[in-house]
Amino acid sequence: TRLGVLASGGGTNLQALLDACAAGRVDAQVAVVLSNVPGAGALERARRAGAPAEILPSKGVADRAAYDLTLVEALRAHRVDLVCLAGYMRLVTPGFLRAFGPDAASRGCPRVMNIHPGLLPSFPGLHAARQALEYGARIAGCTVHFVDEGTDTGPIIAQAVVPVLQGDDEAALSARIQAEEHRLYPQAVQWFAQGRLSLEGRRVRLDRCAP
Ligand code: GRF
Repeated sequence: TRLGVLASGGGTNLQALLDACAAGRVDAQVAVVLSNVPGAGALERARRAGAPAEILPSKGVADRAAYDLTLVEALRAHRVDLVCLAGYMRLVTPGFLRAFGPDAASRGCPRVMNIHPGLLPSFPGLHAARQALEYGARIAGCTVHFVDEGTDTGPIIAQAVVPVLQGDDEAALSARIQAEEHRLYPQAVQWFAQGRLSLEGRRVRLDRCAP
C-alpha cells in the first residue's frame, strides 16, 4: 500500500507511520509527504527518512478546489493508494474526496484517513484536548476515522482512551493523547493495508483476517 501523508506541522504522526513502515509493522510505504506549510517539521522528518516530500504552499490561495486538484495530481504522480491526514490543518474539498473514494481494493472504504486528538463525536475541530479539559471530561483520547465532507465527522475506524488527571494542563493531556495517536494511527493503516476494513453504512467493520 502506497501512502500519501499530508501534514502542516511537526509531523510526529508522520514519524510514527514512517517508523512502523520501516519496522515492517505496517505493510505500506510512505510514497510521498505533502505539506502546505514551508518549514513544517514534517518535511524534515520525511527528508531524514528518505521519503519524497513536496511543498505546495496554500497561503493566499483562495480557490480551495483548484488547490486540492494540485494535491490530487501530486498524489497520483506518486501512485498513492491511501491518503493519511496527519496534522493537516485544512479541510479537503469534495473533489479531493472523489479522487480518493472507494476503489476496487478498498471494500467500500474511502481512501482518506485522519487522526483527531479527541474522542469523536465529542470535541471536533481545533484544540480538542483543551476542549475536553475545559469541559471537565474525565477521559480523553484520539480517533482515527475516514474523512468525509464534514469536520471530523467521518466513519470511525479506531479510538483510544486516556484519563484526564488532576492537575493536567493542555500540554500534559496532549502529550498523553499523542502517545496513543502514535500507536493507533499505524494500527489503523495496517488494518487498511491488510484489507480487513469494510464499510456498512457509516459503521466500519474490522475482519479478523482478510476475507
Ligand atoms: C495531532 O494531535 C493530530 O491528532 C492532529 O494534529 C496533531 C498533529 O501532530 N490532527 P503532529 O504534526 O503529527 O505531531
